[in-house]
Amino acid sequence: MPPLRLKESNLPSLTSKTALITGATSGIGLQTAILLASHGATVHIASRNAAKGEETVTALRAQYPSHTYHYHPLDLSSIASAAASAANFARENTCLDILIANAGVACVPVDELSTDGLDMAFAVNHVGHFVFISGLLPLLRSTAEKSGDVRVVITSSDAHKFVDKVDLSDVDRRIPGDGGSIRDLPAATRRYGRSKRANILFAMELDRRLRAPPGGGSGCTGIRVNVCHPGTIGATGLGDGPAFGMMTWMSGLTRKLVTIVGITPREGAMTQTLLAAAEKIREEDVHGRFFAPRTGWNMRYTHSEEVDLGEWAQSVEDAKALWEWTEGWVDKVLGKGNLGGE
Ligand SMILES: NC(=O)c1ccc[n+]([C@@H]2O[C@H](COP(=O)([O-])OP(=O)(O)OC[C@H]3O[C@@H](n4cnc5c(N)ncnc54)[C@H](OP(=O)(O)O)[C@@H]3O)[C@@H](O)[C@H]2O)c1
Repeated sequence: MPPLRLKESNLPSLTSKTALITGATSGIGLQTAILLASHGATVHIASRNAAKGEETVTALRAQYPSHTYHYHPLDLSSIASAAASAANFARENTCLDILIANAGVACVPVDELSTDGLDMAFAVNHVGHFVFISGLLPLLRSTAEKSGDVRVVITSSDAHKFVDKVDLSDVDRRIPGDGGSIRDLPAATRRYGRSKRANILFAMELDRRLRAPPGGGSGCTGIRVNVCHPGTIGATGLGDGPAFGMMTWMSGLTRKLVTIVGITPREGAMTQTLLAAAEKIREEDVHGRFFAPRTGWNMRYTHSEEVDLGEWAQSVEDAKALWEWTEGWVDKVLGKGNLGGE
């Protein structure tokens, strides 16, 4: 069978839908918010910086007065904060049709750990989203019971190829030094790759657990979880931070080159927006799959397409091990059974 293809023309009206996007104050997340809202969805912009979040909402409302945006505070770098943010959202809202786990950090200083003692990229990109999504599952489930069509999209990256497994042996270790010198670049890159590989295993395991809960009970087929690589996009804030020994002009030039050969933030938003909204996902019951953008001869986005990642992405054993490790770490921080959600 040819791989499933999705195009911008597959985006339907979303007037009855409520969406939440993590990290929608800039880059791909911001463009995803605009795309969903332009099709009628009510969009919640979740991010850590309240001033920036409110400013984003104000600017978007001024630019697109007919769209509906709200700001929701969320700091994914802290387990307690991510859990509280999910609980607050669930208390304040009666439904959630679309959840896009888009926020991410890359190439962060390797001498820093999160408040919970984890490599910052792993804390924000994987653990924070694990906690936030887990806390929202009851709301997602109750929405799915009514509509039969709830979407969870996890934004991963082709950077998952930087590592060949999710090795957690040094995930709670800072690397001595200033964390941002040229000798730290390979470690920072590897750490980002590990978090993005974890995104894929988490998405697959979440999808399996929703359909066949490990403790028994009724499965949920109305929530469809998929994962994507959004494309290579230079014009976002990703990787702003330590220059890893590069001079300012050199890192500026690198970003410019990526911007020229890459796709735009709007094009980068397209794959996750299509997974979140296209009717085809419901009609063909697409879940537990990985998608990426495709470009034409002129390097411009043409469509999004399913990609077969091979056996590792379907490894039940590896995904279960990652899930249990994450749950264990969360339990250590919050106390067993306090994750909220299900
Ligand atoms: N750009 C690319 O080429 C590329 C390629 C493959 C995958 N991706 C993935 O695409 C996603 C979006 O990246 P982007 O390029 O759009 O980057 P970006 O412009 O830097 O956007 C990242 C977003 O994440 C938010 N964020 C960071 N730390 C957070 C935290 N602790 N809690 C809550 N929100 C936080 C940021 O909020 P603040 O505004 O507060 O910083 C920002 O809104 C990431 O998951 C990234 O891994 C990007």
